[in-house]
Amino acid sequence: MDHSMMNHSKPSQPDNGKTASNSKTEKTRILTGNEFALIAVESNQQLSTDVTLPVWTFNNSVPGPEIRVKQGETVKVRLTNRLPEPVTIHWHGIPVPNAMDGIPGVTQNAVQPGQSFTYEFKAEVPGTYWYHSHQDSVNQVDRGLYGAFIVEPKDADKVDRDYTLVLDEWMSSGIPETSNSTGMSEMSGMSGMGHDNMNRGDSENHAESNAAGNDNQPTGMGHNMSMYDLFTVNGKSGPLVDKLPVKQGDKVRIRLINAGYLSHQIHLHGHEFYIAAVDGQPINHPGVVKDNLVRIAPGERYDIEFKANHPGQWLIEDHGANKAVAGMKAVIAYEGADLGPDRPNETANLAAVDMDRYGQAGPSSFTLDQKYTLEYTMNLNTEMKMGGMVYTINGKTFPETEPLNVKKGDTVKVRLINRSMMDDHPMHLHGHFFQVLSKNGQPLQGAPLIKDTLNVRPGEEYIVAFRADNEGNWMFHCHDLHHASAGMVTEVKYTDYKTNFKADPKAGNMPE
Ligand code: C2O
Ligand code: CU
Repeated sequence: MDHSMMNHSKPSQPDNGKTASNSKTEKTRILTGNEFALIAVESNQQLSTDVTLPVWTFNNSVPGPEIRVKQGETVKVRLTNRLPEPVTIHWHGIPVPNAMDGIPGVTQNAVQPGQSFTYEFKAEVPGTYWYHSHQDSVNQVDRGLYGAFIVEPKDADKVDRDYTLVLDEWMSSGIPETSNSTGMSEMSGMSGMGHDNMNRGDSENHAESNAAGNDNQPTGMGHNMSMYDLFTVNGKSGPLVDKLPVKQGDKVRIRLINAGYLSHQIHLHGHEFYIAAVDGQPINHPGVVKDNLVRIAPGERYDIEFKANHPGQWLIEDHGANKAVAGMKAVIAYEGADLGPDRPNETANLAAVDMDRYGQAGPSSFTLDQKYTLEYTMNLNTEMKMGGMVYTINGKTFPETEPLNVKKGDTVKVRLINRSMMDDHPMHLHGHFFQVLSKNGQPLQGAPLIKDTLNVRPGEEYIVAFRADNEGNWMFHCHDLHHASAGMVTEVKYTDYKTNFKADPKAGNMPE
């Protein structure tokens, strides 16, 4: 691990965004300790053998540095903004104090170009998390403003290799000019814009799906996800992705983080494995599986573990119909093994691990039939309104959506129903974990499933529950950030929470 970056003042970029666009990104680093500096700055990143794009970075790489802290540490992160637009950082999945949640206009004013803001919180719950800008996030996350955040448990069960794979999708032609950000416009005037790309925008094969439709498929009405034609692992595509060295006998953990807006079906070749944790939270007695896909939706995390007992060249890859899956793979490279040539992704029909019956039942916080202080239903839908496609919660778009009003100590049961024909809605709650209690009317059979992001596919209905134990105003939104920016956002509001935050109308706050 690289300890040298702890108090660094990198990157060695000029402060001015224009000249920075001549620069190239560096490799993503791992930072440890408890004080960190993140500098938001423009750069250019080579994503594939023939595509280099202007990117927005933390510390001059996409992903930004992987931050690793120890459970119980008080963490300080100083964000400095050298971009032409305001930014923030949200700590996705980490239950931080509300004032540290990074929501412009809700918990803080967006950090202006040239300004800094210091985030401070105690890392109490171990697991795999990530951070990303929450200002105009559909654009800023798309441009690369994200990184992994790992909270290592106090009593770490040692693994020999611990790898993080952050998944993302890009438009090889650059982000269209319709985006409101100014810094990139001269870079994006290319032809094509992906409209001639008739591939499905979804990388799934639905082998095991009984849902009504295909998720993330271009609808001809909403945003067209087929514009994402270049998939990456840790900011690199296909042969550019770093190999994952292992030795025979190693215990290996791979932390998958989906920073993109499409679901991916990840296949680990050649090995039995188990899912040790989901959204950072351990699974009770996870079962060993083989040749099953791990389906990971936007914002979700899956930690898989396996024993390296099958020397050779093995891929961990996205396994779907979209041509762009070719970029989303990494080679598990045994010491001394002949790695051979680059191979196409497999397309065989494999079932995904079914999380509603995975692992063993065990003690949990909530049951379906207990009494709840608040019961709330969210109908998630895709609608035409005023000539445009919007994504609604109970027929309304943010900020008109009705908040979930709670008091500290309340128990809350939420029914999430996806009434869209085509669109997945990976719903993310800030500041809290929820327990998933049922899917389509069936109580969950496996291990208690504790999450912060839950993908609700078309026609599906889930019931989740949480305790209101972290005061503040918290977003609850779809993590297909196109949907969030077009309305699918609400808030969990603690009615007696007092904040001294005052929104500055000049800050240009864009919370969704
Ligand atoms: Cu990953 Cu509201 O965010
Ligand atoms: Cu959605």
